[in-house]
Amino acid sequence: MNTTELLESGNAHNSPSYAPAPVILERGEGVRVWDTEGREYLDFLAGIAVNSLGYAHPALTKALQRQVGELMHVSNMFFTKPQIELMDLLCERSFGDRVFLCNSGAEANETALKLARRYQKAVKGDEDRVEFITFKQSFHGRTFAAITATGQPKYHKGFEPMLPGFTYATFNDLASVEALISERTAAVMVEPIQGEGGVRPADPEFLKGLREICDRFGALLIFDEVQCGIGRTGTLFAYEGYGVAPDIMTLAKGLGGGVPIGACVATEEAFKGFERGSHATTFGGNPLASTAALCVLETVESENLQENAIARGNQLMDGLGKLANGSPTIVEVRGKGLMVGVECVEGAAGEIVGLCRERGLLVNVAGPSTVRFVPPLVVRAEDVQSALGIFEESLHEWEAKQNPSKQVG
Ligand SMILES: Cc1ncc(COP(=O)(O)O)c(C=O)c1O
Repeated sequence: MNTTELLESGNAHNSPSYAPAPVILERGEGVRVWDTEGREYLDFLAGIAVNSLGYAHPALTKALQRQVGELMHVSNMFFTKPQIELMDLLCERSFGDRVFLCNSGAEANETALKLARRYQKAVKGDEDRVEFITFKQSFHGRTFAAITATGQPKYHKGFEPMLPGFTYATFNDLASVEALISERTAAVMVEPIQGEGGVRPADPEFLKGLREICDRFGALLIFDEVQCGIGRTGTLFAYEGYGVAPDIMTLAKGLGGGVPIGACVATEEAFKGFERGSHATTFGGNPLASTAALCVLETVESENLQENAIARGNQLMDGLGKLANGSPTIVEVRGKGLMVGVECVEGAAGEIVGLCRERGLLVNVAGPSTVRFVPPLVVRAEDVQSALGIFEESLHEWEAKQNPSKQVG
């Protein structure tokens, strides 16, 4: 099939819940991907913050090829070495003592919510502590509990009724949490940097305050690091950059570098909520996914990708900040490390993303009007420079279209 036929077939059979761009990506290397027509793209979307090591990283390719030939799956009836080593490394590097390995961000969040409820009931003996506080503009995934936790009505639409017991506070507003929290609150769940809601970093005082409020009320604190974790914000886990540790943390996306994996990491105390049979998943922590995650974690450390995330993130933010100066389109540039958002005036973000793609730069829209940049952590200074150039041209083209009397800058 040629590209046109492939697109026709894809659109005929794909779930109508997706609307992919009219290109078919075929192969990648580093920060670049190529489509079936041979067009090259600089990928600052990275599979939505997933491809932390970029494409075809030699260490990951080699580790996976070896593992495929040895063992891909055995179920959780048995241990495997990669799974044990991964859990060990996650616990050694984080506040956590135990890990539940699973397959996605939504599943990691389901695990966290189930763990918190069961902890309050089974360990604390408090049958009434069943409620959760999450935040407006948050995103936690697409399963029923995860969409209920997601504080954006558009994800609930048509799926109601949502699960009972969830209320939504305002991000970066401790008073709104104080107003909702009670002796019935099992846990508070928050993204240290909101991703899908429009790339919004938490204020350090906000996360510190959440810790204090949770401790005061006996609620568990859950950090959803599915998007912001694994070196992206300059520390292996985003919470380290804030100096506030949660009781439970969820990971996915960047952890597997492209191989699906999720993890719910928690303290020994929180994990007292689970006993044999409480929770399980067939593929969780299988040796193939665990090998990928181990390799990602080791490579993030051996190649100093956390430092790279800070340096390249600063470069990107500086460049975007300069473009924002005097731009009638850019409302705000914000982010942390290599998780950067450019909030635009209404109606601009989607079109600018399309213009960027035509020029060979992949980015996407997060929230109602924010262009999101989440490139692989291996991105180099010259890649950032090129991406800034393409974004600037696309921005100016969009601005010229709004005001046709002006020349494209
Ligand atoms: C913060 C956050 N949590 C959870 C999820 C859901 O992850 P998944 O799509 O792997 O289920 C996402 C996905 O974008 C996310 O950004």
